Amino acid sequence: MNIAATMADGGFTRVPAQDELRLDPHAAYVHITTNETIEGVEWSNEPETGAVPLVADASSDILSHPIPIEKYSLIYAGAQKNMGPSGVTLVILRDDLLQRIPDGLHTMLDYRTHVENKSLYNTPNTWGIYIIDLVCRWLKEKGGLQGMHRENTAKATLLYDAIDATDFYRGHADADSRSIMNVTFRLPSEDLEKKFAAEATAQGLDGLKGHRSVGGIRASIYNALPLEAVEALVSFMKEFERANG
Ligand SMILES: Cc1ncc(COP(=O)(O)O)c(C=O)c1O
Repeated sequence: MNIAATMADGGFTRVPAQDELRLDPHAAYVHITTNETIEGVEWSNEPETGAVPLVADASSDILSHPIPIEKYSLIYAGAQKNMGPSGVTLVILRDDLLQRIPDGLHTMLDYRTHVENKSLYNTPNTWGIYIIDLVCRWLKEKGGLQGMHRENTAKATLLYDAIDATDFYRGHADADSRSIMNVTFRLPSEDLEKKFAAEATAQGLDGLKGHRSVGGIRASIYNALPLEAVEALVSFMKEFERANG
């Protein structure tokens, strides 16, 4: 494995720029995670990988915005954020990659098994797939992925603007790498962050404690979360700052 770029030194606050990638032209593939949920960073444009296939884990931002599918050779995504219940994984695979699959893999790990059997080699999670169908119908009513993207952008902008409007809140990710799914920010002290999360929970704004590995506050605003929920959070933030700032 060749690590093409790491943002560890800066505390994972951004995605790497194209000229920071040390790509191996002979690599089998280049892997990215399109949205990273812990630090709240998201790729806004795909890296250029030339002839090397681009493979992505899109679990946490799939269906949140349109994607230029032709840039990817393989996308995989767990359903549990924007698509439906956990237990279903979506794989979008470019046909020509099937030829590169080595023989001798375990039957279930060989994508040819699933392609040849129309994803019905085993008994799939029918309930999960049914729910995904309902979610896709709901997305169509919202104007498809473009409509969803507009709504997600409005939600994220509202929240980032509230963070940027004051020194009390400090956004974690660099402005050009900010995730529209997971908005991460800090308060002046860890004690205040604890108090913020506890008081928010008491007001019905749950799940705002940051990931245990980084702390701080994280608002996950996936597709299913309505604009009104973000508006409620923003008014809570203003109130909290007034009382504690
Ligand atoms: C980008 C990404 N990949 C993978 C996972 C983990 O998925 P699973 O719990 O299905 O392994 C997550 C979180 O659910 C995620 O956000």
